[in-house]
Amino acid sequence: MARITAGVASSHIPLLGLASDLNKTGEDYWRACFAGYDWTKRWEAEQRPDVVILVYNDHASAFDMKIIPTFAIGCGERYKPADEGWGPRHVPDVIGHPDLAWHVAQCLILDEFDMTIINEMDVDHGLTVPLSMMFGKPAEWPVRVVPLAVNVVTYPPPTGNRCWKLGEAIARAVESFPEDLNVQIWGTGGMSHQLQGPRAGLINKEWDNRFLEDLTANPERLRQIPHIEYLRETGSEGIEMVMWLIMRGALGANVKELHRHYHVPASNTAVGHIILEKRP
Ligand code: DHB
Ligand code: FE
Repeated sequence: MARITAGVASSHIPLLGLASDLNKTGEDYWRACFAGYDWTKRWEAEQRPDVVILVYNDHASAFDMKIIPTFAIGCGERYKPADEGWGPRHVPDVIGHPDLAWHVAQCLILDEFDMTIINEMDVDHGLTVPLSMMFGKPAEWPVRVVPLAVNVVTYPPPTGNRCWKLGEAIARAVESFPEDLNVQIWGTGGMSHQLQGPRAGLINKEWDNRFLEDLTANPERLRQIPHIEYLRETGSEGIEMVMWLIMRGALGANVKELHRHYHVPASNTAVGHIILEKRP
């Protein structure tokens, strides 16, 4: 049987991808930020997951204002890095797992989550930057990926509680897949950041750290955070953190925190990263 073994959350700031691509991670500005992922890279190399269900958001790369799915699942064979305006990143193509993806799509839809099914798309920094943070610069990504895209770009995004319940349904779906697969679920984006307007550059360390603390110990509080609180306390892009709740919902009540990292700032954004092991 397939099983979810762990959840990982990480920011997906495009500049992190650029620092990795240009071999700048040892420079003064980046050293401490990337050092927080050294433990993770070793842990991932030991864990050797077969598949990552990678919860992320597209930033007007595959979708635009013409089509905005609230929840979408990638069922394709492979996904190319998107051209976000300065050419695609020189990172490997992302290899999908169509059998698992179609199974999860079927289970979720029969479980009354109305997923959009995607067979072809390019994937932007929201998906490729977390891969770089976890695996560095391999010739091929060492894992297959089921992309799960969430609308956090245009109002109204889904509630945190809905995201949590989707995570629970994803866990049920994975556990009913007959192949023996080690599956991780990643929640990406965040933490506090606002990229435009008079509050551009807003970072809220206290709020972010309480979110990290409660993700392990008191996630019930996080399910109830209203959109307006994310907006007010964490800036207009802080809403990306609802995607972490899909990851957390998939892990169930018992988790062990294995690793945590918080660094400010990188670009305009607070970098947050946590690894939670699923416990029976
Ligand atoms: C930045 C952060 C993001 O989450 C994003 O999608 C784009 C840019 C930034 O901090 O530069
Ligand atoms: Fe983003």
